[in-house]
Amino acid sequence: MSKLVLNNGMILLDGELRKRNLLIEDKSIIGISETPYQDGDIIDCKGQWILPGAIDPHVHFRTPGGEHKEDWKTGSKAAVAGGITTVLDMPNTNPPTTTSERLNEKRKIAETNSLCNFGFYFGASINNLDEIETIDNIAAIKIYFGSTTGNLLVNDSHYLTDLIKKTRFPLAFHAENEALMKKNLSKVKDLNKAGARIHGVIRDEEVARSAVEEIIALASDHNVKIYLCHVSTQREFELIEKAKQSMDIYCEVTPHHLFLNEELLDRIGHFGKVNPPLRKEVDRKFLYNALIDGRIDTIGTDHAPHLKEEKMQEYLKAPSGLPGLETMLPLLLTEVHHGNLSIERLAQLTGGNVARIFSLKNKGSLAPGYDADIVVVNPDTSYSLTSERLYTKVGWNPFEGQILYGEIDQTIVLGQLAYKRGRFFNVHGEEVEYDTRT
Ligand code: NCD
Ligand code: ZN
Repeated sequence: MSKLVLNNGMILLDGELRKRNLLIEDKSIIGISETPYQDGDIIDCKGQWILPGAIDPHVHFRTPGGEHKEDWKTGSKAAVAGGITTVLDMPNTNPPTTTSERLNEKRKIAETNSLCNFGFYFGASINNLDEIETIDNIAAIKIYFGSTTGNLLVNDSHYLTDLIKKTRFPLAFHAENEALMKKNLSKVKDLNKAGARIHGVIRDEEVARSAVEEIIALASDHNVKIYLCHVSTQREFELIEKAKQSMDIYCEVTPHHLFLNEELLDRIGHFGKVNPPLRKEVDRKFLYNALIDGRIDTIGTDHAPHLKEEKMQEYLKAPSGLPGLETMLPLLLTEVHHGNLSIERLAQLTGGNVARIFSLKNKGSLAPGYDADIVVVNPDTSYSLTSERLYTKVGWNPFEGQILYGEIDQTIVLGQLAYKRGRFFNVHGEEVEYDTRT
């Protein structure tokens, strides 16, 4: 069995960075010790931080049907270059992942092509309850309560109540109120003269708030785990926080809603178009403070790549979505560098909490018995984010030009080096397993 040793690094243990040495055998961490290990392939990590590889609970790898935007090779390269060792992929592909046959096809493609580990969401459609009852080994059922990229939309309350009663899996929601969105859209006189900020008027905060309210009302009397994707406003957040007192409910926030606001649209137009939209500074600030205070459960990139030429089209044609795999961890490490965010909280948000909410087996922590999914960081290195550091097929990122602190030096997936300083290695991630769920 192959042994890999990371000696002399600062390892995140029990919420603190401690000088320790780490021993990996095959795919697992088997030891952490105060004295350096001598046996195996030794990597000296002096001056570096050794953190659990990040788990991204929300990516769109576009396969099948959108491979011109991203595929499992390019998407997983962007992931490991960004220190992400596991991704959970969304079902709004073309065709959507709404049958077990399609899920199995996706599995095969990921097994062959992905450098990082992966798991899948299964899409709810209006007629696949039978499939949902027989499906296995998925992260959650995704419900598009409001429409977005793709054609999955399920907002019939009777159907959803039935689903809530029957599911064994967590339910993840895209929470926007479809009817209200349509009403707001119909009020706009000339969309093409309206400017890019119109997206936030059509999908305003009430669109999000009322959807979250409705979802909570539907689920509150049932024994079900609810995961709200990309929460973007204070009002949604407060509803979820209140519901936590009596429900098993969690909130995900994206890096773009934490670090960008609607003003960006004046500069980059529909490149900044995303669902839910970039919000006003007061909402961004509120979410940022909630992040610092530890009130947010997870960070999901919602990595939703679209080509530059697609984004350059007029409002209705320009698709919604932003790429984000390469920048999530660096943006958070930058907050740690500035003394705003603790490294412990960073690790909870990008690993520990995700593993717990989705019951991911042996993920999200550095301890003997856990999978050897690891990121090695140069904490003091700063750099400007340029397109040369991007591996997503679309080649752009809303944070380009930003100065970031804490460079991803190496990423290890299941005990094998997947990425090191701009180079990729021929490794294969595996599908995640789930601890028993009741
Ligand atoms: C996502 C996409 O393009 O797949 N777009 C987006 O604006 N976030 C879909 C989604 O998560 O809404
Ligand atoms: Zn998404």
